[in-house]
Amino acid sequence: MERIDKLLALQLSISRKEAAALVRQGAVTAGGRQVKNAAEKVDPAAVCVRGASIHYTPFLYLLLDKPAGVLTAARDKRAKTVFDCIDPHLLRRGVQPVGRLDKDTTGLLLLTDNGALAHRLLSPKCHVEKRYLARLASMPPADTPARFAKGLVLDDGPCLPAGFSLRETGEHPLCEITLHEGRFHQVKRMCAAVGAPVLSLRRVGFGPLSLPDLPSPAACRRLSSEEISALENLESVRKI
Ligand code: URA
Repeated sequence: MERIDKLLALQLSISRKEAAALVRQGAVTAGGRQVKNAAEKVDPAAVCVRGASIHYTPFLYLLLDKPAGVLTAARDKRAKTVFDCIDPHLLRRGVQPVGRLDKDTTGLLLLTDNGALAHRLLSPKCHVEKRYLARLASMPPADTPARFAKGLVLDDGPCLPAGFSLRETGEHPLCEITLHEGRFHQVKRMCAAVGAPVLSLRRVGFGPLSLPDLPSPAACRRLSSEEISALENLESVRKI
């Protein structure tokens, strides 16, 4: 059971005052019965506002299209962080980023208050697939896909087998890279190791989640229920 004003504020991204106003207007029911008091405790799954279910979910999952120039970190006095890209009402749930993207990397960053799932998604045992688009400073050698597939050796040891395919050729080719681990600056170090440094990097896939190839700056949305169950039911995540 949860306090109705707190529940509505978190679930609908509104302030507690606005939630209390909805209760005063008689717009809120729990199990078909009108809620009269903003402090009342109710069953979250049975709450409707103006007749429509609030679709209560015990955890919050946000998908941010991280812009360039933003740190994946808690608040920073000088630089903008991913927390500055998220509605303050949602931040009250205590969401944290699942992994990191470099300051200049754009794209898919999952944030959640489901600490246990985040921990499993980040576990080195889990091997969640991460898909990147990288613009390179020069054409990579022809044996790059084979070297990635075999497992490039970096200064901190061999990488797991990774995918590499060329999407566009030219002076600054575009390639798609698929990793199953998440080491520090991994894509940039792998591309540098084959002699084709990264000019810009965008993450477009994380497990079952994906974003369009082109950025939609600072766009942040809740995951759909289909995306949540795909994430929670990832075979590799359930096994650990
Ligand atoms: N690999 C990198 O080099 N940078 C990122 O931000 C993510 C993966």
